[in-house]
This record gives sequence, structure tokens and C-alpha cells, in this order.
Amino acid sequence: MNSLLSIIFFIYFHFLLTMTKPTLTLEPACKTHCGPLEVKYPFGTGPGCGSPRFHPYVACSPDGAQLLLTTHTGSYPVTSISYTDSTLTISPPCMSNCTSMQPAPPKFGLDWAGPFQLGSSTFILLACSSSTIKGNPICDPSSAYLCPSIYTCPGVVSLRLPLFPPTNSCCVYSPANLDPNFELDIRELKCGGYTSVVSLGDLPTDPGQWLYGVALKYTLGGLDSYNIAPSCRACEMSGGVCGRFAAGNFGNFCFLHSNLTE
Ligand SMILES: *[C@@H]1O[C@H](CO)[C@@H](O)[C@H](O)[C@H]1NC(C)=O
Repeated sequence: MNSLLSIIFFIYFHFLLTMTKPTLTLEPACKTHCGPLEVKYPFGTGPGCGSPRFHPYVACSPDGAQLLLTTHTGSYPVTSISYTDSTLTISPPCMSNCTSMQPAPPKFGLDWAGPFQLGSSTFILLACSSSTIKGNPICDPSSAYLCPSIYTCPGVVSLRLPLFPPTNSCCVYSPANLDPNFELDIRELKCGGYTSVVSLGDLPTDPGQWLYGVALKYTLGGLDSYNIAPSCRACEMSGGVCGRFAAGNFGNFCFLHSNLTE
């Protein structure tokens, strides 16, 4: 009788354990990749991953398909990261390029308190009123040759321009600065759209070959670079992902796959 009871208890507890196991298994909270991008410190794929200074701005989309930079003006897919140069490139969905031109939303902006600044890409303002262009010091005459090139793209008609429009509605804004609200205010500049070019490739006259995107520089805070980062590098070299326990600065934690899967 006693042994029957213990068998029943054994089965019952075994059942309980197997039933609750799925909730005990941790989903890998911090991942090494998001879509095609490798995500390393200071970036993280979600809450508690990477540096707390970067987390409110950069995270993997809920479906895991793309890394997103989110600011007060919108969410922008990250298309590349250079960890050695501390730069990343984003592709704002409403930015024009040669194959697809579109009226831009009024503003592109970064967050004042965030670790990002404009990098070295070249902004070209499109479909601007002549008052923007005439004698305006923001338009860089030495890069004005980019205007006739970008205006050969048939997509200009989507900006309500004629084919091969006169280039006096185009302004190469270089070096670009964000306004005091940390924004590039397209409407305020009286333009209809914009593009940003990361690299001209081999042919400055072939806008179909240019690499489009907005390059951003990021800065590591003192805490990131002196305390946390070296141990994170060690963590990443051992195949882990660097993150923190939620809520607070209890130091960082190396999420290894052995921690996560069992
Ligand atoms: C051009 O912009 C469209 C719309 O944002 C995007 O789907 C496409 O991938 C871009 N093409 C290039 C070459 O960047």
C-alpha cells in the first residue's frame, strides 16, 4: 500500500515537473544576431541586453527580423554596424533613393540624451523651394555636382518634379547639422524629400550604384568603456551575449547558451 502510494506520488511529481518544465526553460533573452546583423556590446537585442545607455534606442524588432533604432521621430532599421569605427547605418523608411523617391515625413531626429550623432553620410535635400537654395549657407557648393546625378533618377516624379528637373531645387546639405531640437526638419527647410548617401561607389555620376543610408556615430559612456566593456569582450569571445539583470546596475552578466537552454 505504501509503495503504491509512493509510485502514485512519483508519477504525480514527475507529471508536475514535466508540465512546468517549459516555463522553467528560459527563452534566450539576449541573442547574438538580429536578422542578418551580428549584435555585440554595446548593442543588445532586448531589455537587459547590451549597455543600458543603448537599450532604450536600439532593440531587435518583436518578430526578430531587424534591429531598430527608435527616436522621438520614428523607428529606423539598422542596416550595418561597424564596431571598430563606432558607426552604424540606418535606413529611414521614408528616405528617398534612386529606385524609390518619396515625400519625407516632416522630421528626422535623434534623441538629445542618446549616444548617437550624425556621422559622415551626405544629406541631399530634394524638391526644395528656391528660397532654401539661394545663398543658403547650408547648401555646400563643392558637392553641388551630386544634384544633377540624383536628378537623373526617374523616381523624381514621385516628388512632383518633372523628369530631369532643374537642379536649383536640390541642396547638398553638408556637413549636416541637426537643429536645436536634434532634428532635420524637412518642412522647415521647405523641401519635399531627402536622401542620404553613405558612399558613392566608383561612379559619382551613377546614383543607381550609390549606397544609401544615414551614418551615425555612437559614443560609449565612461562606464561602458572602462568597467563593463572588457568583461563583455571576454564574454563574447567565449560565445556568450553580454547583458544585465533587469532593473538596475548590478553589473553585467554573461548569457552563455548553457545558461539559457537548460
Ligand atoms: C530604396 O528605398 C526603398 C523604400 O524605402 C527600399 O525598399 C529599397 O530597398 C531602397 N533601395 C536601395 C538601393 O537602397
